[in-house]
Amino acid sequence: MDMSLEELGDRFSEIADQYDDIHDSDEKPIYNACASLVVEHANPGPDDVVLDLGTGTGLIALALAGDAGHVVGRDISDGMIEQARSKSADRGLVNVDFGYGEFRDPHYDGEVDIVVSNFALHHLPAEEKREAIEAIADLGPRRFVLGDPMFFGSPDPEDPLFDHGVDGETVGMLVEMLTDVGFVVTDIERVHDQVGVLVAERHPEEPESDLQENR
Ligand SMILES: C[S@@+](CC[C@H](N)C(=O)[O-])C[C@H]1O[C@@H](n2cnc3c(N)ncnc32)[C@H](O)[C@@H]1O
Repeated sequence: MDMSLEELGDRFSEIADQYDDIHDSDEKPIYNACASLVVEHANPGPDDVVLDLGTGTGLIALALAGDAGHVVGRDISDGMIEQARSKSADRGLVNVDFGYGEFRDPHYDGEVDIVVSNFALHHLPAEEKREAIEAIADLGPRRFVLGDPMFFGSPDPEDPLFDHGVDGETVGMLVEMLTDVGFVVTDIERVHDQVGVLVAERHPEEPESDLQENR
């Protein structure tokens, strides 16, 4: 995407207070279905730490807070983070922490059991997606659930689902990026021919070097 992180963050900050209401009506059912699948597949237990990257106004992070031990939401937009914090305070949640962080540097040093991300990774061009997935693998989660625009076939250029801001990859390309860093893709949910959810898992004690040797 031809925009700096700061510019993109500012763009989201400008719409942050209306974000939860303004999804285009054609996109919204798809976005909601995708979000529900991300929450369902994340499936944290009471001791799990969940990291939500590109958390926005906290849709996924807040939905998981009731089941997880702790949820960390990271985003590049101060305005979106502010909205997420406000919603968390309104709900009286004490196990959720929102702050600045980006895919390739989440600004979080603790243990992470599950990483989730919904409708955010598509903002990165392919090479940065690859770096982001490497950074996520380095955090050592046992599961990464990615909901995002992704192409199950060849998108019809005359009928784009998203007309701006989407740097989509094919499902095959994303699966390759995930398997390259040692994840096993255990589920692929097709929400629409341009939107899906990938579930990637890895044994937390199995370092990438062992995986390479066993291939
Ligand atoms: C379309 S919103 C989705 C928010 C939320 N995940 C949801 O499902 O409602 C995309 C979010 O990704 C954030 N974002 C974009 N690029 C990012 C990056 N490189 N690192 C972290 N967050 C990013 C934006 O600031 C925005 O809040």
